[in-house]
Amino acid sequence: MVDAFSPISIKRMELGNRFMRSATHDTSADESGAVTDKSISIYRSLGEGDIGLIVSGYAFVSAHGQAFQGQYGAHTDEMLPSLRRMVEAAHSGGGKIALQTVHAGRAGINAPYLKDKGITSLAPSKIKGSRFPHREMTTDEIEAIIKDFGSAAERAREAGFDAVQLHGAHGYLMSQSLSPLTNKRTDIWGGSPENRRRFHIEVVREVRRRVGHDFPLLIKLGIMDDAPGGTTLSEGIDTAREMIAVGVDAIEVSFGIGGDFMQRIVGKEATPDNESPWFRERAAVLRAAVSAPVMVVGGIRSFEMAQTILDAGEADIISMCRPFIREPKIIKRWLVGDRRPARCITCGQCHNLLVGRQDVLDSYCWQEFHSRGIP
Ligand SMILES: Cc1cc2nc3c(=O)[nH]c(=O)nc-3n(C[C@H](O)[C@H](O)[C@H](O)COP(=O)(O)O)c2cc1C
Repeated sequence: MVDAFSPISIKRMELGNRFMRSATHDTSADESGAVTDKSISIYRSLGEGDIGLIVSGYAFVSAHGQAFQGQYGAHTDEMLPSLRRMVEAAHSGGGKIALQTVHAGRAGINAPYLKDKGITSLAPSKIKGSRFPHREMTTDEIEAIIKDFGSAAERAREAGFDAVQLHGAHGYLMSQSLSPLTNKRTDIWGGSPENRRRFHIEVVREVRRRVGHDFPLLIKLGIMDDAPGGTTLSEGIDTAREMIAVGVDAIEVSFGIGGDFMQRIVGKEATPDNESPWFRERAAVLRAAVSAPVMVVGGIRSFEMAQTILDAGEADIISMCRPFIREPKIIKRWLVGDRRPARCITCGQCHNLLVGRQDVLDSYCWQEFHSRGIP
């Protein structure tokens, strides 16, 4: 039995309980990638919510690695005051916060937006038929992006973040590098599983070089692809082991290439009665294979489910995203004894956040909230 409200430490970071707010892009950053007053109110509210660990919305490490407008930037020293404001907001209520860092690779959804800025998306290989304009990275560019991950992590530490989480999932650059479906390179960065995970290993080494050995480093890992010919679970476990060997302290289990993200989150409305966590089995296999803490995310909506997963030893930390959009203080509510499930009904309409439609989100969530009579 592991009490969901028992503490856990990851290196020097002591978490008050086993709940985590999974990284959530909220479109609130300004044109430069800096936080706005709206971002601050989001992080202040989360910080007051007794969440073990808050992971920020993904922050781009290089200008050509931006995925969406309104995304936080960690790509230049000019972002330091913005990053500090985010930390202060989360810490003001007693929360712990990790910065999630990302390079979108070819998945710069705002390709026209990047093009307007004179930027072309980069990827391990040029993929024919991709809806995103991009070109293959040169080896110099690969090495430069590895350094960018290091610089962003150093900024995070300097700004006072409690940890960094690398975004190694959901089809962004790290996923693209790992998968044989999107990495067709014939040099040392592609081909065998060892070569395809070289980018991950070098990123972790560079981050460690820049932040030292004590600073907690996490990865959200696409543990396998959900498309024919993609990475398998057993390859994902090998990657996870390598990540730990070179300096990663904890792994959040998610998906890599395929299993389209939007399809996963849109139109899969659920109620507490049909709660079905996405990656419980994959997390359990990983947890049995490694000694570092494992987080599991996707579709978890009730305290009972969270406690069941912890009791079964399938994960060490329960991570959720959408329940916190609807209810930033859900953990505080559970902590004081109101154990009703998340008010989030997994309608997926919060994908509108991803396309900058906060107005749609507000009205949709609000109507659902009342029409179902959820208190
Ligand atoms: C609006 C929105 C924004 C998201 N932003 C991020 C992000 O910045 N980084 C990330 O790794 N995942 C992101 N995700 C994915 C979530 O962290 C999470 O993995 C997924 O939604 C499944 O968890 P859930 O069922 O608890 O929502 C986002 C999801 C949504 C709905």
